[in-house]
Amino acid sequence: MNTSLHTILGIESSCDETAAAIVREDGEILANIVWSQMAQHAPYGGVVPEIASRAHVAMMDKVIAQACEQANMSLQQVGAIAATTGPGLIGGLMVGLMTGKALASVLQKPFVAVNHLEGHALTVRLTNKVEFPYLLLLVSGGHCQVLLTRGVGDYIRFGGTMDDAVGEAFDKTAKLMGLPYPGGPAIEKRAREGDPRRFKLPLSMVGAEHGDFSFSGLKTAVLRLVDSHRPLDEKTTADICASFQYTVGEILADRMMHAFKRCEAMGLKNLPLVVAGGVAANQFLRGRLAQVAKDFGAELVAPPIALCTDNAAMIAWAGMERWRLNGWGQCDVLDTEPRARWPLAA
Ligand code: KG4
Ligand code: ZN
Repeated sequence: MNTSLHTILGIESSCDETAAAIVREDGEILANIVWSQMAQHAPYGGVVPEIASRAHVAMMDKVIAQACEQANMSLQQVGAIAATTGPGLIGGLMVGLMTGKALASVLQKPFVAVNHLEGHALTVRLTNKVEFPYLLLLVSGGHCQVLLTRGVGDYIRFGGTMDDAVGEAFDKTAKLMGLPYPGGPAIEKRAREGDPRRFKLPLSMVGAEHGDFSFSGLKTAVLRLVDSHRPLDEKTTADICASFQYTVGEILADRMMHAFKRCEAMGLKNLPLVVAGGVAANQFLRGRLAQVAKDFGAELVAPPIALCTDNAAMIAWAGMERWRLNGWGQCDVLDTEPRARWPLAA
């Protein structure tokens, strides 16, 4: 192994994945362990915070040990420790943050407090070596926002959701149709067999002068649609899934056109469009966003699917970028507190 390159351990516990990864400064992922709590939350149709916290406590040391084993490294050989400090569920954040701080303190290594959203935002620099600046659509279960990414810690927010996040809309829509949690993959699968034009759903905010999104009207419309077609047969379920996914695609496409125009007005042309977060795993939405990017002479860049959903490699990498900017010295003090809310841009 090349020992002259810096390595960092990343720890993630902000939602329902307990994860640890070790990443090298050249972008080599030496270990990436994700323990999903999905099965424990599935009966409730969403993440139950207390169950999540307890599961993080039960699994955290095991995933870190597995990461060391996969990388064939001891904790002493890792150069620094990064942990997600927010935003997210406070109980889970406390588990990962305390573990990270304890390790950094005992091993006398630099500690980096990482914003989970920055983890998603910078993943394409790890996987695709994308240079700043780029336009970022961050779409996950808890977040939906468009940011002009100019550098590490340097973001301009163009807009965000006024109500539900996109992933949340997928999850809630799936739940009311009786589909399993998480809703995104379940809807995408059924949508492949469905007719996207059968049901006309509201295109909330399409054409708006501002850069924001709204998904609550769409959710209510699907609720009414489902209620008027009960009991749902396979075909109708597939058609609702396809119509819903198509509508989300149109809304995202319109909002990104708005963002591209705003970039052009700032003199920034052909910026790469990066899509990140769990919803970026959706192949149909990727296709629609690729079209928009093409219309503006730009390219769509998305991380591999396994690195779109929550993982610790993205936390390790965001930690690496910040640690590097700090001249490989100490980054954050050990009395750093967890933050349930932590916007990327003011
Ligand atoms: O980034 P992530 O793993 O966790 C958060 O930080 O929220 O995103 C999870 C979200 C869930 O809402 C899930 O339904 C959605 O991403 N998701 C998808 C797909 N895969 C995951 N949404 C649409 N299509 C998918 N294929
Ligand atoms: Zn996430």
